[in-house]
Amino acid sequence: MAKLKIGVLISGRGSNLQALIDAAADTAFPATIATVISNEPDVAGLARAQAAGIPTATINHRDFPDRAAFEDALHAALGEAGVELVCLAGFMRLLTEGFVGRWWDRLINIHPSLLPAFRGLHVHEAVLAYGARFSGCTVHYVRPAMDDGPIIVQAAVPVLADDDADQLAARILAEEHRIYPLAVRLIAEGRVRVEGERVQVANAKAPGTSLLNPLPD
Ligand code: GRF
Repeated sequence: MAKLKIGVLISGRGSNLQALIDAAADTAFPATIATVISNEPDVAGLARAQAAGIPTATINHRDFPDRAAFEDALHAALGEAGVELVCLAGFMRLLTEGFVGRWWDRLINIHPSLLPAFRGLHVHEAVLAYGARFSGCTVHYVRPAMDDGPIIVQAAVPVLADDDADQLAARILAEEHRIYPLAVRLIAEGRVRVEGERVQVANAKAPGTSLLNPLPD
């Protein structure tokens, strides 16, 4: 079967991009990365893509008079690469309703919290300040509001008593690298449907246990 062509949009380090590159290196993975586009020049993620032989482009938002023109350029580049699914992976520009509408249910994002809790930036600091006992990460379809949209996959991790933001971020990042390829695979296998703004995953297996934090003595 033909592989789903994905385009990955980045702004920086690209560790989630790397997880997708590594997953796609398996011939059995049902998606292929057609292009990687960064709005920031010379970032580590672009080097990761180039090392893997993936075509890259830099589309610097500063080169455009407004958001619409920037997004038109993004849209055109994705179209030229034959992209069928756009994956935001640490892409630090808000996308307007116009762009989101053009890629409706074909545009996904990864966010380092258990949405809808802790949207936005400085998530781990906010989780620690609140005293939440669990955090995690979410892959979701993108809607015009920030960090909003139907949830495809989540992973939960415990928040430990002596965590700082960096330790919590690292624990969550390891899970991000598992769930982003998983979400792309489920979509590429045709198992993901959005029905009434909820995602249904065909033949999904759920974990058989619940988690407590702290555990009883
Ligand atoms: C990740 O934590 C992701 O959840 C968030 O931005 C970060 C990007 O990291 N949206 P990387 O560039 O993939 O390493």
